[in-house]
Amino acid sequence: MNFNVSLSARHILIGIALIPALVSFPALASPSPQVCDSHGLVRGAEIAMENLCFGCHTLSRERIGPPYQKVAARYGQDPKEVSVLAAKIKNGGSGVWGSVVMPPNPISTAEAEALARWILSLGQ
Ligand code: HEC
Repeated sequence: MNFNVSLSARHILIGIALIPALVSFPALASPSPQVCDSHGLVRGAEIAMENLCFGCHTLSRERIGPPYQKVAARYGQDPKEVSVLAAKIKNGGSGVWGSVVMPPNPISTAEAEALARWILSLGQ
């Protein structure tokens, strides 16, 4: 009995702790099994926050760079696109969405790939 009470109290605390993350990332709040089951995708969202990607990108609105949902719609789910996008995220560049340049981002290849996988998952 005591066990049940403390277990549900813990669940409530975890729920409260997750609210800010779910508010900033509505895609994480959806019950898509891919998002829930894969630590890699959640890690992608964390790396995006740590590296100020949201200074230039949002999920659904144009900012300095294209919204991530538009990027996902453009490239689809082809796994080959992960390495192409990862290289672009790491090295920066311009000309795909307009003439504004994305500067290079100081992240590892593994981090860039986690970001690319997460961004492509937003199109589902
Ligand atoms: C200073 C602004 C800025 C920052 C910071 C920035 N981006 Fe970009 N991003 C852009 C611009 C501008 C483009 C459009 C480039 C183009 O047209 O080729 C872009 C394009 C992209 C694309 C689409 C690439 C393509 O070829 O279609 C992805 C994916 C992306 N950014 C992810 C990221 C991630 C992840 C981060 C953080 C690590 C990040 N960006 C940080 C400005 C930025």
